[in-house]
Amino acid sequence: MDAMFSSCGLQTLPTEFAWSPPCLRALTAIQRDFEIDDEKLKRIAARFEEELYEGLSKHGENLTMEATWVHGLPKGTETGSFLTVDLGGTNIRVCWITLRGRGCQPEIVQKLSHIPEVVKTGEAHQLWGFVADSIDHFVRERGLHCTASSPLALGFTFSYPVRQDSLTNGRLKTWTKGFDIKGVEGEDVVSQLDKALRAKDLHIDVVALINDTTGALIASSYMDAETVIGAIFGTGSNAAYMENVGSIPKLKTPLPPDTPMAINCEYGAFDNSHRVLPRTKFDQMIDRDSPRPGEQTFEKMSAGLYLGEIFRLIICDFHDHGLLFKTQNVSRLARPYTIDTAFLSALESDTLPNLVGKFESISGVEATLGEVQLLRRLAEVVTTRGARLSACGIAAICKKKGIREGHVAVDGSVANKHPTFKSRWAKALAAILDWQSDRERDPIRMVGAKDGSGIGAAVIAAMHLRH
Ligand code: GLC
Repeated sequence: MDAMFSSCGLQTLPTEFAWSPPCLRALTAIQRDFEIDDEKLKRIAARFEEELYEGLSKHGENLTMEATWVHGLPKGTETGSFLTVDLGGTNIRVCWITLRGRGCQPEIVQKLSHIPEVVKTGEAHQLWGFVADSIDHFVRERGLHCTASSPLALGFTFSYPVRQDSLTNGRLKTWTKGFDIKGVEGEDVVSQLDKALRAKDLHIDVVALINDTTGALIASSYMDAETVIGAIFGTGSNAAYMENVGSIPKLKTPLPPDTPMAINCEYGAFDNSHRVLPRTKFDQMIDRDSPRPGEQTFEKMSAGLYLGEIFRLIICDFHDHGLLFKTQNVSRLARPYTIDTAFLSALESDTLPNLVGKFESISGVEATLGEVQLLRRLAEVVTTRGARLSACGIAAICKKKGIREGHVAVDGSVANKHPTFKSRWAKALAAILDWQSDRERDPIRMVGAKDGSGIGAAVIAAMHLRH
């Protein structure tokens, strides 16, 4: 027993929480399947770098490396007030943002609403009706005026893969993050939103369609000139950085080769051809039961929407093998997506007795302290893998661009709310890029880009209108 404890790193457990040998064996197997050692991390990051090049070279590759038509970083002198809408994986946020230049915090007035489940899986007209209603309420509540002769400029953050041939249009390629709305894929999302706004007599012009990662990159650069990458570690996982047009062979454009162009990598789709990521049976189950099997392989192993679900599948498996919650009714736990990543955060920060109560309110299962301790260990395993994988994409961009120092501007619930994600991510990045991690002094380090999507949309709108 002692040997098993030490191989699992669990020596400190009080004896009353000792798990049975079959339970320890199952835990050890899970740890083995989810472990990504430093060598493997390096191999994944190397393949990631290849996929960045492939995506820039040709259409139809795993990474779509979307041109955003954002030409360069802000100067920090952009000013003005802008309406922005951020349609993410969980919420819609409508904002009125006032930019006052680098050195002054932008002023944000905002309204956040949860996107109802019926909208996420409904029809296009429901989605755009919901978005237009949210804008309409906000504009009325705030007394913002828009008329045919003086329309309001809107920066629209739409955090899904779109193919753009200008800043003001974009065809949705495929839904991600569990969305499955009919009638939008293949269509220009700006035209669809325009139509819904016109139907409400709202004189609002979309002046910039952007991704949340581009928003994080630009918002952060507006305040901090050391920003090199914008990333989201939230419901989904993705990053944006700056290329030159000449390094994007697939792009047919008369623009000079040295024109800067922000690239939205859409790297949640990394390794869709399954060459390098060590997928477990749980990852395969998530993919199989998702609305778009075969897509977003990397995201399904590392992003917030899926971490809780991977964890739930593991504990259901333990239950099925008689290793957890033996005499309990697990019918609620058996429902997909009943556990979200917030509970995994709690498992790593709250006390065991509190967690017993939290787990019962989520799942209806009364777990023992020993069982909750096991849940904590399993949560660590799942989120450690997520954090280590999340470092691979950023390391790949840094290697490709020869970036040796700078700030990675990050927003998203996993980065912002999980207690250990950032330190595990930093350690993994250091392992790939070969330095000793000391988070405060790491040459490339994560900085918060809170509200980056909204502020970024406003800054891009300002950059665009100035030209
Ligand atoms: C998904 C989307 C991508 C977005 C990311 C983070 O991967 O496809 O556009 O940036 O989630 O929200």
